[in-house]
Amino acid sequence: MRTKHIVPVAVLAIIPGGVGQAQQVAAPAAIPAAAAPPAPATPALAHPERWPRPALKRQRDPRVEARVDALLARMSIEDKVGQLLQVDIASITPTDLEKYKLGSILNGGNSAPDNDEFAPASAWLKLFDAFYDASVKRADGRPVVPVIWGTDAVHGANNIVGATLFPHNIGLGAMRNPALIRRIGAATAAETAATGIDWSFAPTVAVVQDDRWGRTYESYSEDPAIVESYAGQMVEGIQGAVGSDFMNPGHVIASIKHFLGDGGTGGRDQGDARVSEEALRDVHAAGYRSGLVAGALTVMPSFSSWNGTKMTGNKSLLTGVLKERMGFDGFTIGDWNAHGQVPGCSNEDCAPAINAGLDMFMYSGPGWKTLYDNTLREAKDGTIPAARLDDAVRRILRVKVLAGTFEAGRPSSRPLSGKFDLLGAPAHRAVAREAVRESMVLLKNNGGLLPLKASANILVAGRGADDIGQQAGGWSITWQGTGVTNASFPNGQSIFAGIDQAVRAGGGKATLSVDGRYQARPDVAIVVFGETPYAEFTGDRPTLEYSPDDKSDLALLKRFRAAGVPVVAVFLSGRPLWVNPEINAADAFVAAFLPGTEGGGVADVLIAGKDGKPAHDFRGKLSFSWPKRLDQFVLNRRDPGYDPLFPIGYGLTYATPGAVAALDETRPTLTASDQNALFVRGQVVAGARLDVAGAVRQTRIDRNAQEDSLRLAFTGKGEASIEEAKPIDVTRESNGQLSLLLDYRITGAATGEVILGMTGGKTATVPVTGAMKAAGADWRQIAVPLRCFADGGVDMAKVTKPVTLASTGALGIDISGIRIASAPPGPVACGVR
Ligand code: BGC
Ligand code: BGC
Repeated sequence: MRTKHIVPVAVLAIIPGGVGQAQQVAAPAAIPAAAAPPAPATPALAHPERWPRPALKRQRDPRVEARVDALLARMSIEDKVGQLLQVDIASITPTDLEKYKLGSILNGGNSAPDNDEFAPASAWLKLFDAFYDASVKRADGRPVVPVIWGTDAVHGANNIVGATLFPHNIGLGAMRNPALIRRIGAATAAETAATGIDWSFAPTVAVVQDDRWGRTYESYSEDPAIVESYAGQMVEGIQGAVGSDFMNPGHVIASIKHFLGDGGTGGRDQGDARVSEEALRDVHAAGYRSGLVAGALTVMPSFSSWNGTKMTGNKSLLTGVLKERMGFDGFTIGDWNAHGQVPGCSNEDCAPAINAGLDMFMYSGPGWKTLYDNTLREAKDGTIPAARLDDAVRRILRVKVLAGTFEAGRPSSRPLSGKFDLLGAPAHRAVAREAVRESMVLLKNNGGLLPLKASANILVAGRGADDIGQQAGGWSITWQGTGVTNASFPNGQSIFAGIDQAVRAGGGKATLSVDGRYQARPDVAIVVFGETPYAEFTGDRPTLEYSPDDKSDLALLKRFRAAGVPVVAVFLSGRPLWVNPEINAADAFVAAFLPGTEGGGVADVLIAGKDGKPAHDFRGKLSFSWPKRLDQFVLNRRDPGYDPLFPIGYGLTYATPGAVAALDETRPTLTASDQNALFVRGQVVAGARLDVAGAVRQTRIDRNAQEDSLRLAFTGKGEASIEEAKPIDVTRESNGQLSLLLDYRITGAATGEVILGMTGGKTATVPVTGAMKAAGADWRQIAVPLRCFADGGVDMAKVTKPVTLASTGALGIDISGIRIASAPPGPVACGVR
């Protein structure tokens, strides 16, 4: 939402000192570093002639083209427009496809058969059969074009209960093993195909440059060379290789995403990559070079912008570079309603995106028929030229012909369909375990604590120790990876379970104690902790400090230290984070990233065999630089001042040990972990101010810490509001169905009317009197969906006052926090007035 946060000037003061005696500067102030990016240096117009022409392995096949032409010639304009739409299964029924012959359906991260994310694999297959049957039912003699189903199989068939979940891409990047990437792609495709689903929105080939981005873990590396070495292999794993098993049974359509520059948006989801055309080409396009060579059938344009222009509407890149110059002859699939963000468009109407080179809309919401109607009208009246319409449809048909869609038959009749024992098949789990063990990066192993003897008495502690959901991260059964338990992963193994198995086999003992308490003193402790799951923008962070508001993991590590118990830290995270204190507090420190469901792969490198020798040495090498200081969001080894804690490529092994000296622990006194905080720990965030007007008095009180909360005493008509120095953009949060959250307590019941308001151009207000009528000692929460304000006319891209609390009568209220977050709405109804 914002690029300015509670980041005091102390951060800046640390820079010159480096590791050592960084000084603290007392006065907190806003750091301008991450503030609004400078005006674009280059316009968003690409020069295709400056781009490479990759030597594609797949050549145009005249027989395929003839078939496509023959189909196209018999299609009506309604048929053609139908192919341009992909609609989320949450918004469409099989019956709809009897009338509307759409090109595709998808399940977004939150969508599943019968709205049940834990639905069995058979329910997915059954639902696809129903959609398929409807799509091929026609009696008018025009061509039957079967529907295809797209899903985010981004680290395994991760929407399906029982699937093997591989490490997220950041961990795979540490393996430096393209051959294994290919096997992961093939296993993922086979598990996806078991449900009949024929298309995956993977791989993500973002070359992430700023680790604050919530999608950093979906990136193989900050280094384009690593991404390039993987993308083609992953595409071949998923689709099969051109000239051999291309799109044979068990393979599915791949989609390289998000074109282009998604990793260059300064840590902001759906942001703007302000980079030169050369950087776009040489850094961000790395994965397209190899992915297109391997014959990727679809490409997903990015939600993000390049120098202020939304990628989904950038003709010079979509048509000029991708299709004409790089020779991509598959089709482009929009990102989730991304077309609606193109100027001149809404979710339900967007000819500009099609004209720029988008071939298929990805749509979710109730209005897909409106999108269809508008697109049809624009195709008829020439707003979308006939040649462009035909080109888009030809591309979609070409992919369907190449993928065998016309011959595949009902989903349940396909060779791998219904073979649900492929989900979590032992062979796939073995591949995943291999990947887990190869992705572990040993950052520190002082005194040679690792490997641990299998005969040892080991205490396994930490919140991540026995939590498969946490080790799997986002995009795991649910979109955010939240709301799951170990039972949601029937074929998975937690890290503790893997350690337990290894130690038991070696005659030792492993005890699980999440909070670290023990009766008998263990020989050694393993503490598994780290980030909890997130996906997309909910993972955007203003700081790289690990867990700024909760240092209990650090305390746990220190507790073992103090008791003289050697401690191994296993850190789960979707990105490198500043963990200097945690590294100091541990004798050995392993970056495990988000390993997925094969927790046993962690034990493979931690625990020695019976002979005392490790069966597997560490092989992982960082594919992202690890920050030495909190402000090192962007670390690029090509930069002259490159000064990471651990450079890209770092990783200790048993064969080549090395010690890590004590690290600088200086941190600023105040950082906000929540990028969407408006008021936290007694203060409004930098760049905003609190305004109080009318018959109201403000003071500070203590809730959890000294003066961490605001007390407002209204004696009559008055209001308090947070006013931004510069308008803030909360469109992403609004699109993402977030709410304005207020943590409060009523000390004096409301005698008049109370409203919560938001201003951006217009002001919209929501009545909240009902929630303020009774005083009490309890802290409560109000969640008002941002939609309420958007529907009330607030320009969410230019919010000047994110919150106003106004009362017409007396009211006593304490407020401990105001933020924008995901929460069930309540207890107020939208009721904008
Ligand atoms: C993401 C894509 C994903 C799509 C469908 C979007 O929000 O950006 O990566 O493929 O949703 O779930
Ligand atoms: C995600 C979808 C998800 C939706 C939920 C999108 O950004 O990519 O997969 O279902 O948000 O709001």
